[in-house]
Amino acid sequence: MPHPLYRPRRLRESPLIRRMVRETRLRVDDLILPLFAVHGRGVREAVSSMPGVFRLSLDELLKDAKDAASMGIPAILLFGVPRAKDPRGSEAYAEDGIVQQAARAVKETIPDLLVITDVCLCQYTSHGHCGIVEDGRVKNDASVELLARVAVSHVESGADIVAPSDMMDGRVAAIREALDDATYVDTPIMAYSAKYASAFYGPFREAAESTPQFGDRRSYQMDPGNATEALREVGLDVDEGADIVMVKPALAYLDVIARVRQEFGLPLAAYSVSGEYAMIKAAGRLGWLDEERVVLEALTAIRRAGADLVITYFAREAARLLERQRFSGLP
Ligand code: PBG
Repeated sequence: MPHPLYRPRRLRESPLIRRMVRETRLRVDDLILPLFAVHGRGVREAVSSMPGVFRLSLDELLKDAKDAASMGIPAILLFGVPRAKDPRGSEAYAEDGIVQQAARAVKETIPDLLVITDVCLCQYTSHGHCGIVEDGRVKNDASVELLARVAVSHVESGADIVAPSDMMDGRVAAIREALDDATYVDTPIMAYSAKYASAFYGPFREAAESTPQFGDRRSYQMDPGNATEALREVGLDVDEGADIVMVKPALAYLDVIARVRQEFGLPLAAYSVSGEYAMIKAAGRLGWLDEERVVLEALTAIRRAGADLVITYFAREAARLLERQRFSGLP
């Protein structure tokens, strides 16, 4: 019997060896936790399609943000649900808007936690689109002006990083210019650069009440069949001054993450979206798969594809699992 020269199984023999030769590590430092802020007090309202995710008034949001920070999660991503919606989404750039209030509260109470804010209009507009609508169409340049206002108002309220998710053309440049004019030259932009028109956002739209009231988002978000276009989108955002670029969703777009990683040297974030969370939660609850193992496997896969940062509703659960792993020495 010829002896195999190389036996890959040698390095799989024990948990310690496996740990030592593991190529990709998920770390708590890579995780970003999205949180939904609503008006009121004592509100902790469950999102039915996202078990374990809540819409939180500021007092409750601070508790979850503190918990995340105490686990070592470096950043939260804030979304707001406004009191009222109108065609121009005015609460999105109001001084006392819900995200502005939340950013101020978190920075006052937990200064060591980074606050990233989602910059978009869809939660705030009565029609539910990410921009200004005229004659039934989403108008790019008028929307960009408002988005720049949203970004500046977030930073005025304490946001450390702004994350435009609207997919209008030219918005990164406009936001950069507006921030610079307002003296916020050091505030980074994390651009949702390759954001697909995805059905995986379904549960989020329940959480954020942001379902478009007519039509869909296909005139501004990307076609799921396109990957080369994602590189063009990322390239534009880089040229316009993005500091961190993003691919979204994550699990069904690992090839896009890998290609962006290959082509660009900037920090790359991937957003594991609400539908990805809902699928794993649902199957876990039904006992159809082992939720804890699947969470770590999925998040590790997103890192392996090339993402530096992973935005995930599982952030706290993953942080807990990673902590447990560290002490048990288990994979
Ligand atoms: C807002 C926005 C959306 C998500 C993040 N920012 C929804 C959308 O574009 O419809 C989706 C997040 C998720 O599904 O977890 N534009």
